[in-house]
Amino acid sequence: MSTVIGIDLGTSTTEAAVLQDGKPVMLLNFDGKVETPSIVGLDGTGNIVVGEKAEGQILLAPEQTVKEVKRLMGTGEKVFLGKRACSPVEISSMILSYVRNFAGKYLGEDVERAVISVPAYFDEIQRQATVEAGRQAGFIVERILNEPTAAALSYGISHLEEESRILVYDLGGGTFDVTLLELFEGVLEVKASSGDNQLGGKDFDERLVNYLSERFAQKQGVSLEKDIYAMTRLHQAAAECKKALSTQEEYRVLLPMIAENEGIPVELDETVSREQLEELIMDLVERTHEPIDVVLDDSGMTAEELDMILLVGGSTRIPLVQADIESYLGKKPCFAVNPDYAVAQGAAIQASIISGLVDEEKGIMMTDVNPYTLGIRSLNGYMMDYMSVIIPRNVTIPVTKKQTYYTSWDGQTSADIEVYQGESRSVEENHRIGTFRMHGIPSAPAGKEQLEVAFSYNQNGMLNVTARVMSTGKEASITIDMMQTADGEARADVSGWKESVLAEDYRTVIRRAERWLKKHEGEAGTEEEYDALEELLYQLKLAIVEEEDGEAEELEEEIRELMEEYGNEK
Ligand SMILES: Nc1ncnc2c1ncn2[C@@H]1O[C@H](COP(=O)(O)OP(=O)(O)OP(=O)(O)O)[C@@H](O)[C@H]1O
Ligand SMILES: [Mg+2]
Repeated sequence: MSTVIGIDLGTSTTEAAVLQDGKPVMLLNFDGKVETPSIVGLDGTGNIVVGEKAEGQILLAPEQTVKEVKRLMGTGEKVFLGKRACSPVEISSMILSYVRNFAGKYLGEDVERAVISVPAYFDEIQRQATVEAGRQAGFIVERILNEPTAAALSYGISHLEEESRILVYDLGGGTFDVTLLELFEGVLEVKASSGDNQLGGKDFDERLVNYLSERFAQKQGVSLEKDIYAMTRLHQAAAECKKALSTQEEYRVLLPMIAENEGIPVELDETVSREQLEELIMDLVERTHEPIDVVLDDSGMTAEELDMILLVGGSTRIPLVQADIESYLGKKPCFAVNPDYAVAQGAAIQASIISGLVDEEKGIMMTDVNPYTLGIRSLNGYMMDYMSVIIPRNVTIPVTKKQTYYTSWDGQTSADIEVYQGESRSVEENHRIGTFRMHGIPSAPAGKEQLEVAFSYNQNGMLNVTARVMSTGKEASITIDMMQTADGEARADVSGWKESVLAEDYRTVIRRAERWLKKHEGEAGTEEEYDALEELLYQLKLAIVEEEDGEAEELEEEIRELMEEYGNEK
């Protein structure tokens, strides 16, 4: 069986590991290092460089270099590598390609399979973006694993006999995760996860950068903010300063010739004390409290019941962070695992469980939770966009749950099942992750017909949604495969519509609609019409595949009307 590696794709650095003889081994990159900076650049000849090489050119060519794209995963934002606009997925895939190459060289085989870790508090869209990055790098992504769970796994594997309640506090470069787990008889059970995807060392750096640049402007009367070269130097210096202040009381930031004042070069020379840094980041550190409360609440535990607070992530080296945890939870946190390697090692352990190298019976077993609430849009009298919860957050996965709904108006024969993820009572503020239409509800007065909607969520992050008309037993379902679909919309396969007995009756209208779509594809000003028609066409093919003649007829009518309307307008 081919090797499966574990990868910690971090905001600041990326690590990979593999299990050898029952022990996690960190893989070395082409620079002979365990840690690869999560930085991508274009070198002087237009080649893509990753890691240390990219980091090395940051000061010389900041415009050709990008870092910290993990923050942007799952958004439509682009970053620029020189003139080239890249998605965060593409940049991440370049980092993962680099990992794939050095892992292959290190192991002496082509490495194709990987377990990639993500913050526990990543939503499905961010997870999917990570899977997509892995795919583009040529990996088969075997599993997406939550980072704190991975860290706990690397602790648990050598403490199988222990019985303890562990709070993993993971503060890295860009994200904060907190997870509460129980280790009991070799089973590692996640009780709850929460966090903040926009909190980490990067934010501390920014606070310090702002402070230093303001001081500079006051003293020298020159602003650095518009000078990308000066700001890049300042960023690096601030990060160094912050790290140094974890072990020393004072640090002098000295940047000669950072700017010019009336033609004369000026330097930035500022001594920062640990106390000053603490003041600058205090409120950010306190933002960790709320997620901590959520996991304690959701798992029905108090701080006193915790046996251990496990620190993971580079930012937990900050003394203020450690002091804050101790004062907030009343217990000293500890570094029982290597804070930089634990996540990759845990991913490697999971990888070896998947490849059958570690026997789950004898070794460690693990369960995880879904970090966000899952539900559907429904009406509830006064709210049009009410999120009706089907699977609450922090439930152990795999899980299946059902809810019953009633028809909303007289003669309602179809219902849109719109699937959402998030904590708001209003779906508008949550993420829509999939949708489908349930046809064939018998026509009856409002509230007479019942629809049962069942959600099944498995360990690979795949949600299966089934809707059933109670009176007839008719079912429709979709699998929202977070690992398959690129845009979060799950779709049934309708490509075989021509094989259906109904195909002949609708061939003409389908051909006409397809012709229209082809003609207007990409045409400015027709996007809405295009999308509407495309959707109807899909629904029609679905009805044909499902041999729902009545529905197909209705849809055919709708398509004809729509095209007539467009025809008159255009
Ligand atoms: N000694 C230190 N003192 C303070 N901060 C530090 C120290 N060492 C590293 N850091 C910070 O830790 C962060 C990197 O941590 P880590 O490598 O765990 O993050 P990551 O895994 O890349 O990010 P994430 O898990 O958030 O995606 C950086 O912001 C770095 O500046
Ligand atoms: Mg990390």
